[in-house]
Formats: sequence, C-alpha cells, structure tokens
Amino acid sequence: MSKPKILVQIDSDEHASLFDAVVGIDSGVDHLIPYASVQVAQVQNLVHGAMFTRGPADLRNTAIFVGGSNVATGERLLEAVSSCFFGPMRVSVMLDANGANTTAAAAVLAAARHLDLAATEALVLAATGPVGQRAARLLAGCGARVRVASRSLPKAEAVCQRLSEQVDNAQVTPCASDSPESTAAALQDVQLVIAAGAAGIELLSPDMLRDASALRVAIDLNAVPPLGIGGADVMDTAKERNGVLHYGAIGVGGTKMKIHKAAVRKLFTANDLVLDAEEVFQVGRELEQA
Ligand SMILES: NC(=O)c1ccc[n+]([C@@H]2O[C@H](COP(=O)([O-])OP(=O)(O)OC[C@H]3O[C@@H](n4cnc5c(N)ncnc54)[C@H](OP(=O)(O)O)[C@@H]3O)[C@@H](O)[C@H]2O)c1
Repeated sequence: MSKPKILVQIDSDEHASLFDAVVGIDSGVDHLIPYASVQVAQVQNLVHGAMFTRGPADLRNTAIFVGGSNVATGERLLEAVSSCFFGPMRVSVMLDANGANTTAAAAVLAAARHLDLAATEALVLAATGPVGQRAARLLAGCGARVRVASRSLPKAEAVCQRLSEQVDNAQVTPCASDSPESTAAALQDVQLVIAAGAAGIELLSPDMLRDASALRVAIDLNAVPPLGIGGADVMDTAKERNGVLHYGAIGVGGTKMKIHKAAVRKLFTANDLVLDAEEVFQVGRELEQA
C-alpha cells in the first residue's frame, strides 16, 4: 500500500500561508505540515526529516512547498532545500513564494491563447517585482521580444541582465516608464502588455491604450482598485475592449489556481522534481492541452 502524501510547507513568514495550506489540501495532500518563520540555517534539519524517514521507493509521497511573502527569501530557501539532496535521497519541491510562479505562468498562458509568443513584441510594466520578473522571464523563454519596464531605468537594466543570464538568447530591452509619456512610448508597436504593478496602482490609462494601435492583449495582475489598467475590469477574461482582449487579475486568477493545484499534484509523481517558474509554466501548458 502506498504511503500517505505528506506536504511539508516551508514558509518564511510569521504565519505559514493559510492560502497555500488550503490549496495543498484541496490538491489531495493527506497530511500538510506547516513550518513558519523558517530561515535558511534551519532548512537542513527539516529536509533531513523529510528525506531520511521513508525508503527511496516511498519518497515520492513526501514533497516540500516553499512559500512566504518574500520571493527573494523563498529563492534562498529553495536553494538551501535543493542543496540537501544527494543520489536517490531527495523529495520533490516547488517554489511559489507570494504566488509569483503560478501567477506569472497563468498570465503568460493567457497571452499564449491569442498570440504566437515567439513572434510577439511584449511590454511588461513594473517588471522589477517578483511577478513581473517571472512573467518577463517566461515570455523571453517563449521567444518573445520583451520590453522590461520600470520607473527606474537602472532597475530595468538590472532585471534585463539577470534575464539574459537565466534565459538562452533572451531578447530583452530595458525601458523607463516613469511618466505617462514614457509609458505611452514603451507601449508603441507592442502586441502584448502585462501590467505587474503593486496593488492599487494604475499603470496604464484608457487614453494610453487607445493610442496603442498594435496592441491585441492586455493583462492586469493587480486586483486592488485602482486597477493597473484603467477602464478594465478585475473579472475580465479575454474581454474585448476597443479591439484589445483584456484579462483582469481575477480572470487570470482562475488559471493560477488550477496551475497551483496541478503543480502540487505533480510533486507526488516523482521524488526528484524541482518546480520553479519554467516547470510551473509547463504544468500550465499541459493543463491547457488536456
Ligand atoms: N492574481 C493573483 O493571484 C496574484 C498573485 C500574486 C500577486 N498578484 C498581484 O500581482 C502584482 C505584482 O505582484 P508583485 O508582488 O510582483 O508586486 P510588487 O513587488 O508589490 O510591485 C511590483 C512593482 O510595482 C512597481 N511599483 C511599486 N510601487 C509603485 C508605485 N507607487 N507607482 C508605480 N509603480 C509602483 C515597482 O516597480 P518599479 O519600481 O520598477 O517601477 C515594483 O517592483 C500585484 O498587484 C499583486 O497584488 C496577483
């Protein structure tokens, strides 16, 4: 008989994410074991507890979910988790700190329903945040030419540098979006825009959208009014407005939830999976093709 599925939730926040716990349970996990306020130095003991308790044949029924609101800390925790594994002594692990991987994957999948990304000029606004950086990374990985926008050009340049190291042949260009004029200029000739700004910040006005004649798909990830794309609705799901298909944060959120659950289920199919941005995106692609 196979062992119960155990998901160990490693979270850097004071309270481990209840959202991630509920999704874990809804994904079919038998036992969820949450650890809060986890620091890198504490990871080894936790991972050893997960990987030395069951024989190699049963390790696929133990998995680790790395969460928490701080994505940079989540990345360090994932690195620490992965460094504990050797030979067959490993369990599958997924990173979705702040929902960044599942959200970016859902946004890029939404775009891919309407556009050939390899032939697309895309603009990611507020591309310096964890969600925006991952969206830009996934788009670049699909062969899109990506304009990486920030209010600060040096910050956009730094993100482009990182993307060039992470993605082979990344076609990324930094651009400033520090005024309505510069944002409108960045929007010219793009077919896709993803607004990945902080909650409650409008990045694009309806006027800017009207002037963007090449635009076909506009995706907003901010669910808190004012929305990131003015004139759109948080529920939009391929809603056409003036010839542009709009997605709002909740419109994208449905796909994000499906990807999150499918990725957790995937963890229990093997004991050697590491699900970061690209792997989570692949889970989403498989869902779309099913
Ligand atoms: N739908 C979902 O399931 C889901 C899940 C997770 C996140 N989200 C949403 O996705 C969005 C991005 O998340 P995140 O965690 O990456 O966001 P974030 O780190 O809070 O902010 C992203 C970027 O927004 C820009 N920004 C911050 N304050 C600003 C201001 N006052 N004016 C203009 N720009 C400002 C900054 O870029 P620059 O400084 O470079 O300009 C920042 O790097 C958020 O709206 C979040 O709520 C949605």
